[in-house]
Amino acid sequence: MFRAFQISPDIYWVGAIEWNERYIHGFSMPHGSTTNAYLIMDEQITLIDTCMAGFEGELLDRVADVVDPAKIGIIISNHSEKDHAGGLARVLEAAPHAKIVTSDPKGLAILKTYVGEEREFLPMKSGEDLCIGSRTLRFIHTPMVHWPDNMVTYSELDRILFSNDAFGQFFATSQRFADEVDPCTLMGCAKKYFANIIMPFAKQTAKAVAAVRQLDLRMVAPAHGLIWRGGEVERILSAYEKWCELQPDGLAVVVYATMYGSTARMAQVIAEAFMAAGVSVRLYDLDVSDISDIMTHVMDAQYVAVGSSTHNGTVLPLMGQFLTYLKGLAPKGRTGIAFGSYGWMAAAPKEIAAVMAAAGFQMPLEPQASDWDESTINEDALFQAVFALAQQG
Ligand code: FEO
Repeated sequence: MFRAFQISPDIYWVGAIEWNERYIHGFSMPHGSTTNAYLIMDEQITLIDTCMAGFEGELLDRVADVVDPAKIGIIISNHSEKDHAGGLARVLEAAPHAKIVTSDPKGLAILKTYVGEEREFLPMKSGEDLCIGSRTLRFIHTPMVHWPDNMVTYSELDRILFSNDAFGQFFATSQRFADEVDPCTLMGCAKKYFANIIMPFAKQTAKAVAAVRQLDLRMVAPAHGLIWRGGEVERILSAYEKWCELQPDGLAVVVYATMYGSTARMAQVIAEAFMAAGVSVRLYDLDVSDISDIMTHVMDAQYVAVGSSTHNGTVLPLMGQFLTYLKGLAPKGRTGIAFGSYGWMAAAPKEIAAVMAAAGFQMPLEPQASDWDESTINEDALFQAVFALAQQG
């Protein structure tokens, strides 16, 4: 039933479209996702990457649209995370003679735990080549983009880079190429993916992009989302070069969790102070906002103000979740503000300030605390403190 999609002479997309997947490790995917696999019909029939467990039937169906899966001679695993290799064991049942190409030593160590020591592996160092017939494939390690084992595969004959996680987007579509979909939606998905997955490894990613720049490319085929071809290749490479710099864009992001409204009131005062100082603002109530959407804007932010009511001597649960997420992803060189209301103990703003400082934020203001009665918030003092900070630049 499932069909292969030819992307180049003798090369087919045979991935899985996850139309209704909405979350992956806390990351929301309102547009769904795809895990892409590619089939190269050469003397040694080669499959690049597999899929998440549960989608093997779809992948194998698409392969069978071109060739009997039992004839696959090589399976390249560019990355052993479960969204690409979770289905490997089942695919190997259908392709029992396939040798597994993986990065040496990191990918090799992980894949042995998935499929056992007895399988035949072809571990590849960075820069090594493998001839599969009329094509020679080159493997370039891209560690921490975004696991230690990552690598990319380059076919010089086709001028195609199979880039795995790099340059991906979570975007389920019936189209396969980036130039066939709305560019704003596409680049929004690509940026959100970068902010929530790649951002902590921006330095390593910049090195990977520099290595990719040395290649003659007409197509970049990632393991998630749409394939970049023609002028779209330059679009995504340039975007990655800019994003990897992690330069703030003058934005203030204000995020809060509130019990009865006084922390929300403080958030509004802070937002107004930034606006009065000429700084663009985005204001998020965690009760109705998605943390992975917020993080996409944190990537651009010069200022990040985070507030919670004090509850049970700590932050509200939604704020606990956000702080955990922020701690893992926060870009460096940003200015933070901690704030929040309290009843008898101003614990939350202090806790937020400590987490943000540990995550690398500069915290020039004392934690801004106010008691729970929103009518008694010293709005003017809060406004002036934030306004003065924003004017300092
Ligand atoms: Fe798409 Fe790191 O897995």
